[in-house]
Amino acid sequence: HVLILDFGSQVTQLIARRLRESGVYCEIWPFNNAPEARIRAFAPKGIILSGGPASVTEGESPRAPDCVFTLGVPVLGICYGQQTMAAQLGGAVEPHEHREFGRAFVEVVADSALTRGVWAPGAREQVWMSHGDRVTRLPEGFRPVAVSEGAPFAAIADDARHFYGVQFHPEVVHTPHGAALLKNFTHGICGCSGDWTMGAFRAEMIARIRAQVGKGRVVCGLSGGVDSSVAAVLIHEAIGDQLTCIFVDHGLMRAGEAEQVVRTFRDRFNIRLVHRDASDLFLGQLSGVTDPEVKRKTIGRLFIEVFEEEQNKLGGADFLAQGTLYPDVIESVSATGGPSVTIKSHHNVGGLPEGMRMRLVEPLRELFKDEVRELGRELGIPEEIVGRHPFPGPGLAIRIPGEVTREKADLLRKVDTIFLEEIRNAGLYDAIWQAFAVLLPVRTVGVMGDGRTYDQACALRAVTSTDGMTADVYPFDMGFLTRTANRIVNEVRGINRVTYDITSKPPGTIEWE
Ligand code: XMP
Repeated sequence: HVLILDFGSQVTQLIARRLRESGVYCEIWPFNNAPEARIRAFAPKGIILSGGPASVTEGESPRAPDCVFTLGVPVLGICYGQQTMAAQLGGAVEPHEHREFGRAFVEVVADSALTRGVWAPGAREQVWMSHGDRVTRLPEGFRPVAVSEGAPFAAIADDARHFYGVQFHPEVVHTPHGAALLKNFTHGICGCSGDWTMGAFRAEMIARIRAQVGKGRVVCGLSGGVDSSVAAVLIHEAIGDQLTCIFVDHGLMRAGEAEQVVRTFRDRFNIRLVHRDASDLFLGQLSGVTDPEVKRKTIGRLFIEVFEEEQNKLGGADFLAQGTLYPDVIESVSATGGPSVTIKSHHNVGGLPEGMRMRLVEPLRELFKDEVRELGRELGIPEEIVGRHPFPGPGLAIRIPGEVTREKADLLRKVDTIFLEEIRNAGLYDAIWQAFAVLLPVRTVGVMGDGRTYDQACALRAVTSTDGMTADVYPFDMGFLTRTANRIVNEVRGINRVTYDITSKPPGTIEWE
């Protein structure tokens, strides 16, 4: 296994992800929480120093623990990691006016174990750079392997000590051969065997959960979404009936979903499950509420209240389990500390209620969505849950602009069901990130048979995305859209008009509220 010391780069998790993809187990530790004894006990086959926002040229900037360079294991420094390695070993780093951000090209000037079989000497190769500082003098023992316009030492090697450095980011996909370079480091230089799998992760996590929880009791908010489902099944596998799941049913799920959650987790996985039908409470409190943020906050608050109530009925618990994924970790960091504006106050089912002083069990914190799905399949969770589109915590409430009522939710569920049925029949479900219907607070005139109608309009929305941060409209063919619209108007009494939302994100958001 390999140790990644994190200096705060936005893309550190991608290093871990690339390593896992090539079958290498790794852990990410903050650079300032890596005492020598702990590193020695971990016994890494190699150490990677990540990038980071600091500048080595400033006094108090982060440093790698000295033992990193004396343990006798290979080291790869990436961007800031390369700079601090160079500075700590006696080289020099300077700010430079030729800053490089984004796509850049390097010229490979020498052979090395890092580039062997991937980059040939003399070749010009594309990389992704993001730096202002650069190494200007190499420490003793190092030689240049690649140069770029902005970095005379875009890649460097000290063959004797097995120390390597790159100014660019091999972990991002915009460095086309980056994954192969990382593999050269882990497999070739560090000697990792590359036989680590999701099955091994499962076993590892089960051991870690048991060690963390001991004989304690754990509650988990289950929503039927991919993340909380995988977390629940994994934790149940680790500690059995020490886990109780609480499913707060706000009555704003899709058709049949609540029943499916209960069936799957209670009957199939034998997980202790409290199903609390709180739809009257939620719909009651939402009555008269039209402002999207007030809706979101109301639902978030009620969710916590009901969750706490159910948890107290159980007599409390020592731990709260959450299906937090790595992208949630980054987003919430920027949401609490960063300068970014709140577009929407997200509500995550199972989100930690403030003041509920329980320790957290978050076994998926290091994973990306597609890795969670793979783990779910490994655990035998049915494809209809593992492959399910994301569904927002506030449910259908944010797909009903204006006041939410039970009648409107029922109407929307019918439209939604038809839309998804057509998508599944056309074999498009997995090609789409999210697809859903929105009930518009508008009535329009139509004609059906010989009669006039004056009914509600709805919008359909389907997007592609890799992380929900940006999204493109799914380009259905017109035949699909007209067929679906016909079915909706014919089969759902109360809807007489269907539109397709063709707004990308940005400037739109995926949900309407
Ligand atoms: P937006 O609408 O912000 O949505 O473009 C991005 C992604 O997040 C989902 N979403 C939520 N998920 N709680 C959630 O768990 C929420 O409050 C929430 N609001 C939006 C949305 O469905 C999309 O996948």
